[in-house]
Amino acid sequence: MTHALPILNHQPRDPRVPPPAPAEARRAGRLHDAHGRVIRDLRLSVTDRCNYRCVYCMDPDHRYMPKRDLLTVDEYLAVARGARDLGIDKIRITGGEPTLYPDLDVLLEGLGALGFEDVALTSNGSLIDEAMARRWSERGLRRLTLSLDSVRDERVNEITRTNATPAGVIRAITAARAAGLDPIKVNAVVMRGRNDDEIADFADFARTHAIDMRLIEWMPLDSGRTWDREVVVTATEMLAAIERRHALVPVDRTDPHATALNFAFADGAPGRIGIIASVTRAFCGACSRLRVTADGKVRPCLFSHEEWDLKPLLRRSGTEPDVAAFIADAMWTKQAGHGIGADGFEPPERGMSAIGG
Ligand code: 5AD
Ligand code: SF4
Repeated sequence: MTHALPILNHQPRDPRVPPPAPAEARRAGRLHDAHGRVIRDLRLSVTDRCNYRCVYCMDPDHRYMPKRDLLTVDEYLAVARGARDLGIDKIRITGGEPTLYPDLDVLLEGLGALGFEDVALTSNGSLIDEAMARRWSERGLRRLTLSLDSVRDERVNEITRTNATPAGVIRAITAARAAGLDPIKVNAVVMRGRNDDEIADFADFARTHAIDMRLIEWMPLDSGRTWDREVVVTATEMLAAIERRHALVPVDRTDPHATALNFAFADGAPGRIGIIASVTRAFCGACSRLRVTADGKVRPCLFSHEEWDLKPLLRRSGTEPDVAAFIADAMWTKQAGHGIGADGFEPPERGMSAIGG
């Protein structure tokens, strides 16, 4: 005899697939998370490879992901189309070092056609020449962020663990400017005992090269797990160090999603200073970001312990609405904040180079 039993779903949920988000995740053409934040900014990592081994990022013995796990250019474009569908209108290409990604031009071409309001790229600058910057610009790249953690040759060698020098970044700035990329930002991760005696020199660098210098508090995202709170130089300390040499005036306080405290020079000199106080003044409440790793994991937060694997769906040729729905579901799980400094804080399993900066 058969009984009409209620259907009990005892099938274990696939841990790589996010639970469905409520309909309210999508309102007025915008993607929202469970904390009411609008998600409009995709950071897409296209490789975890890098020709540097910056001390704050990558352990010298760091192991890369197997090549077969990295997405193809068509898969990255499928991610971007899904995100675009959700009203995400800003995209930043990151790595690893994205200039090591062989299909970068093809990707930028494809992104250009999708109509993002803003397309930006983060690179260490070592491989950028004018022809490359022009090709990017023609394909719709607007903004470039570079990396320079010291203005002294031997220190750049030590920090990147290569023979790179500031001259390489200056060449990349010149190339980017000639190609019309604007603004050009240059990141420096400030670490106590390593480059904290150069904070005012970074301000001079911003003035001399008319760029936005961004001084960043070191976050616990290095793959070697050497992060130490004592080594973090705080935004307050950085500001004081600059103001001993140059008076600053605040700018841009209107953008609620701004992650930096932004300043111009009071004497009207060119260049700007942005202080990224990720550790001491977290901006998580205003975060509008979504990250997708080079191997297709959706990470709602830099510090997520959960990541959602979009790759099986992409490899099954999931449609654009399927990809969009997956991303929306994943983003509903975005945590309220990173909790650095809270009891029991654990850094994520992946380091910055495997997440995307
Ligand atoms: N903390 C803060 N910033 C970091 N970056 C890389 N690792 C870290 C970290 N642990 C920044 C660098 C680089 C960008 C991609 O991310 O400034 O330019
Ligand atoms: Fe490479 Fe950037 Fe990490 Fe330095 S910070 S090792 S340049 S990915």
